[in-house]
Amino acid sequence: MTTFANPFFFESPSGRWSFTDREQLLPALSALLGQRGRRLLIYGRRRMGKTSLVQHAAAKAGHVFIYADLSTAASLTEFAAKLLSAAPKESDKRLASILGLARKHLKSFAVAAGKFTLSGELQTEEAKQSLDQVLNYLNARAELDDDPWTVCLDEFQDIRTIGGDRAEWKLRGLIQDHRHLNYVFTGSDHRLLAWMTEPSAAFFKQLHQMEVGPIEAGHLARWIERRANSGGVPDFPYGEAIVALAGPCTGDVVRLAKVAFDLAAGGRTQDLVPTAFDAIALVELNSEFQARWHGCPLTHRAVLRALAAGLPPTAAKTLRQFGLSSASTAQKAVESLIERQILARDAGALIFDNPFFKRWVSFNGA
Ligand SMILES: Nc1ncnc2c1ncn2[C@@H]1O[C@H](COP(=O)(O)OP(=O)(O)OP(=O)(O)O)[C@@H](O)[C@H]1O
Ligand SMILES: [Mg+2]
Repeated sequence: MTTFANPFFFESPSGRWSFTDREQLLPALSALLGQRGRRLLIYGRRRMGKTSLVQHAAAKAGHVFIYADLSTAASLTEFAAKLLSAAPKESDKRLASILGLARKHLKSFAVAAGKFTLSGELQTEEAKQSLDQVLNYLNARAELDDDPWTVCLDEFQDIRTIGGDRAEWKLRGLIQDHRHLNYVFTGSDHRLLAWMTEPSAAFFKQLHQMEVGPIEAGHLARWIERRANSGGVPDFPYGEAIVALAGPCTGDVVRLAKVAFDLAAGGRTQDLVPTAFDAIALVELNSEFQARWHGCPLTHRAVLRALAAGLPPTAAKTLRQFGLSSASTAQKAVESLIERQILARDAGALIFDNPFFKRWVSFNGA
């Protein structure tokens, strides 16, 4: 009996063996991680592969890389605690001298097995300064090493959710003198680039920028086929069809490849890719999409149905067909759906952010 091992993982950033391409971005990113005092913004649509890229580059470069995801923290204090615990373990030899540095910068901390953690009640007034304390400490600590240190703040747009509307300004003030640390900000919110770089923005003219776009379709298709072969399916001629149906986001492509692999391993050949696509859109994600749909007011639903049917949402005929009262109502719904990242603009065209949701709407949205 053949044993199959599904080689496709869409659930977490791709690891060392499941990473492909990014040949142009990796050298630039690696070079930056080897310096000091650099500031980089990595942006791109959701599920494109930003986190995978940055983590892969850091693992390859081998310098100190302190990563924390803002979307997983409920407060700046909790985020500070995460950052500190992501710092490397200190050797016994250095611990005594580093303790002095920690005492200077951190009001309340504990140390065990070479790792520093924030201690004490995290909700106090004093604790509110803990992000400042931790970043100042990391900068001072980095100065002691020959090896460069990088701090990566992933899902950076969430700094406003947990730190308030102008939180990035406060951060800018804090880190502008941190010459010993590199900072990498990453995020997928379409507003992030504007928040960070327009003339009135906190980091105007202070950031290198790197856009993570789609992996070239032919490359991705061949990679999928080779991986399917390595997982135990020698005949898997579906790479191109998978990339074409899933669209540009790497995570969507890998998700579709995973289900297509299972179908192929089960012996299916007919309509394999569309069947896999529907299994995700109409079964796997059905409850999530139902909840999303029920959370949409009627005007949003009408716009989504029009777009799923391939019709321009503000055209007179569309308005009549879907019962939208005016073009401005439709336009407002479009803007709000973009804000909610249900729709996206791609090279000027209005598209569903998630290709599986588009399919769900056209199947169920009547
Ligand atoms: N270079 C790559 N090679 C292979 N697979 C990749 C690559 N980049 C991303 N992926 C796949 O896409 C999925 C999404 O990637 P990742 O989480 O890095 O994207 P992201 O842009 O950080 O997404 P989000 O905006 O949701 O944070 C990963 O689980 C992985 O399966
Ligand atoms: Mg990510």
